[in-house]
Amino acid sequence: MRVDPYKVEGSIDYERLIKEFGIKKIDNKLLERIKKHTKELHPMLRRKIFFAERDLNWLLDEYEKGNKFFLYTGCGPSGPVHLGHLQVWYFTKWLQDKFNVELYFQFTDDEKFLYKDKSYEEIQEWLNENMLDVIAIGFDPKKTHFIIDTLHSGILYPEAIKVAKKINFSTIKATFGFTDSNNIGSIFYTSMQTVPAFLPSVLKKKNIPCLIPHAVDQDPHFRITRDILPKLGYYKPASIQCSFLPPLTGSQGKMSSTEAVQGILSTDSPNQVKNKINKYAFSGGKDTLEEHRKKGGNPDIDISFQFLKYLFEENDKKLEEIYNNYKSGKLLSGELKNYTIEKINKFLEGHQKRRENAKKQIKDFLLKVN
Ligand code: TRP
Repeated sequence: MRVDPYKVEGSIDYERLIKEFGIKKIDNKLLERIKKHTKELHPMLRRKIFFAERDLNWLLDEYEKGNKFFLYTGCGPSGPVHLGHLQVWYFTKWLQDKFNVELYFQFTDDEKFLYKDKSYEEIQEWLNENMLDVIAIGFDPKKTHFIIDTLHSGILYPEAIKVAKKINFSTIKATFGFTDSNNIGSIFYTSMQTVPAFLPSVLKKKNIPCLIPHAVDQDPHFRITRDILPKLGYYKPASIQCSFLPPLTGSQGKMSSTEAVQGILSTDSPNQVKNKINKYAFSGGKDTLEEHRKKGGNPDIDISFQFLKYLFEENDKKLEEIYNNYKSGKLLSGELKNYTIEKINKFLEGHQKRRENAKKQIKDFLLKVN
């Protein structure tokens, strides 16, 4: 198993990650505390898909004292958006709505230029495409601010160097597994990802708590962030971390748009979704109808079921019914796939409509600085 911002592979042992990263499992007591404020719990909380956190109790202490936090998350624009991205962003929207807070959303075009074998121009094209997806999530434009690393370099850079001065090369090597052959831009980069965690405090000239929703592979960056910010006079950011939407083909690693079998993309047509699920979605069903009816399928390894659990079946009772029926053999693989295809397509229809309208809105979302 390897899990860090630059590689996720192998069969992921979340219990081991909790220990190694030093993050905390989200327990029922904390869920109850969240629910006090949100009235209901998002399915990804109820199902422990967002499973770990740092300092969330502290964040809620502050919130209850009237010290509101802001949200910070981001996107590395190097390819098309897939369901794994949408997972974190739709959850972030839920947090924004429930707590009525500002969101700072970082687009790390510098990071992807430095790490990927792609030209600057290509990355800019993905940046534009990806912004449309983020707008399509439905974030409130009055409370959401896009930070583009190269475009906003004028305000980011003075803060990034303050961070960079406190990090030495050996920390970077140990955290990300870098060697002497990594380019020097990539060594500096984590300073850029740290800045949005305190930029609102700089802009508003007061200390504001920060909550970062993210997939667990980003935690190494924010361990560094948490180490540095108190030295600069800011709060450590809190975080809430999710497990990975599995790839179509099985349970190892995470969904990606660059693997041989691409994940399901935000722009896929109904037919593309249908073909991808039918052709590639790993099935926990048995080889023959008779065997399936007799012995039942395995929903825990079935990708269609996992997609329903992660994103597309909000109704817990319905999900449980599907689980039991699949396990008993009453529900067939083909039927489960058809149901999942329908659910995904319905979801994407709305997303794609909003995405069409997003082009005119980019300007409203860009962080304004005076
Ligand atoms: N590094 C992230 C990526 O490659 C992008 C990112 C920047 C991010 N800031 C973030 C992700 C904050 C989550 C939270 O996709």
